[in-house]
Amino acid sequence: MCGIIGYIGKRNALPILIEGIKRLEYRGYDSSGVSIIDKDNELITVKEKGQVVDLERKISSRKNLLGNVGISHTRWATHGEPNKENAHPHNDYKNRISLVHNGIIENYKTLKDKLIKEGIEFKSETDSEVLVNLISWIYEKENDIEVAIREALQNVEGTFGIAVIDKNNPEQIIAARRGSPLILGIGKNEFFITSDVTGTIIHTKKVIYLKDNEMVKINRDDFVITTLDNTPVDSKISIVDWDISNIDKGKYSHFMLKEIYEQVETVENAFRGRIIEELSTTKLGGISISASDLRKIKKVQIIACGTSWHSALVGKALIEKNARISVDVEYASEYRYNNPIIPDDTLVFVISQSGETADTLGALREVKARGAKVMGITNVVGSTIARETDGGIYIYAGTEIGVASTKAFTSQVTILSIFSILLGRMKNLSPNYGNKFINSLRELPQLIKQTLKLDNQIKKIAESIKDSTNALYLGRGIHFPLALEGALKLKEISYIHAEGYPAAEMKHGPIALIDENMPVIAINLNNYLHDKMVSNLEEVKARKGRIITIATEGDNSLDEISEFVIKIPKCFVDLQPILVAIPLQLLAYHVAVLKNLDPDKPRNLAKSVTVE
Ligand code: M6R
Repeated sequence: MCGIIGYIGKRNALPILIEGIKRLEYRGYDSSGVSIIDKDNELITVKEKGQVVDLERKISSRKNLLGNVGISHTRWATHGEPNKENAHPHNDYKNRISLVHNGIIENYKTLKDKLIKEGIEFKSETDSEVLVNLISWIYEKENDIEVAIREALQNVEGTFGIAVIDKNNPEQIIAARRGSPLILGIGKNEFFITSDVTGTIIHTKKVIYLKDNEMVKINRDDFVITTLDNTPVDSKISIVDWDISNIDKGKYSHFMLKEIYEQVETVENAFRGRIIEELSTTKLGGISISASDLRKIKKVQIIACGTSWHSALVGKALIEKNARISVDVEYASEYRYNNPIIPDDTLVFVISQSGETADTLGALREVKARGAKVMGITNVVGSTIARETDGGIYIYAGTEIGVASTKAFTSQVTILSIFSILLGRMKNLSPNYGNKFINSLRELPQLIKQTLKLDNQIKKIAESIKDSTNALYLGRGIHFPLALEGALKLKEISYIHAEGYPAAEMKHGPIALIDENMPVIAINLNNYLHDKMVSNLEEVKARKGRIITIATEGDNSLDEISEFVIKIPKCFVDLQPILVAIPLQLLAYHVAVLKNLDPDKPRNLAKSVTVE
């Protein structure tokens, strides 16, 4: 949520700052801006509503934007509508310091009232402008920008990742974080500040992940990291182990499509090295719990948001079936404030693709505050959640840029299925079952490849539903979470209202919505609920609903009542949700594209939700 780049070095800062926020645009894209300290030590700020290309257009006519120190920002609005005034960077009332901010200053109203009483005028509706003016007001008294930033940050409640430049200290950037990610990139004679390594990976792979309540003061030749109360910090330099090819669209028209197709490899990456053939079981090295303690687990809680929450629901079905352990799946935003009960012998997981989701992070901290251990299932290496959990599992899906999560979902489900076997084999599952799972897992990439061949058929189906205003997704058992996920994919990128339901629940209300205009996307693979599902779909047909079925190859039982049947390869039951996700993702993608919408940047959304 909101992308920040800062640069200090010998090169011209502007192209680096613009290119950086273009790469971070998936974090927010309603407005953007840049501040540079130019050759005459003047502070120059340019902002624009819309995407970074709009800012770039505006900047192209400015010849004076030359300087080696600057900050830039791409915004996801929290306080104040997306317009030029509310865009970042925000300059102080004296126009000498400039700040970019990611996060929310919760007590901004109190602080603003106080500053207004001091005679300070505001140009925007943002909480961030309050912060820059607070810093400036203290700076006026203290005459030291570093002291002013420290003192201001002691007085704010909420979350921040900030970078500040000051024309009176033109060779310096100060950045600090609490709750919002911030990373220092260390180049050769140059430094970067970024909210995500994606923004600076083309310049350097050497990074330091700042921790909460840390501040970095960067000068041209070096940097110093301290806590906000000025205690020196000895930070570890990490090397980012992926490169730019991860964040290029390649031959694909959108990142989302690329990421859907990447699932052939990403699912394999998720299970590689996690099979113990000779014991007919699986392993997850990142779980820092001994086998004997794992055997003692009586309950699992999984906490997540959005698509990650849907993968948790699939995990629940698998763990309960294979390990006979009861699983609670919780919305992170609710869990953290619900005075959660964590019984003894409970294993808690948080799942987050980005590893930065504020609600999930808050829930994780709540679990830790209660003295329980918490494991993470994350994608982004070095992310805050990955670092704060007691142990964890990386899904190794590679950078996911499309705002709609696709490959992360299937990789998360892969990990959860592996975990269900690991626990199940310690308890009641036979070696035979373990072997069947392992063999099916190995076949899965090939089945995904085959499923992707349905792309053209799915595009035609998308054509036929693109003008619908509503859609219903139905599934049962292990496929109910897929109905939720299919509906989420469609609504978030095509803006068609969609709901996911357990198919039998339909008759308790949603059936009232069904008429000849209502597409009903039904997931009905070969499993023990197949025939029950057929009956539910007959009820839809009787009300003239348009049925689009996802079925197993060779199953013709729904051909007659369905307008379209998408037949996916036969697959081991535990892994079916992974295959089902693919047509659902493709359908949503094509509907969005056919409606001339950008699936990578749906309105009002951002990839990484770092505010509550
Ligand atoms: O990074 P996380 O997995 O924690 O993100 C959770 C949700 O914000 C995310 O899955 C969101 O729902 C996606 N836009 C869904 O496609």
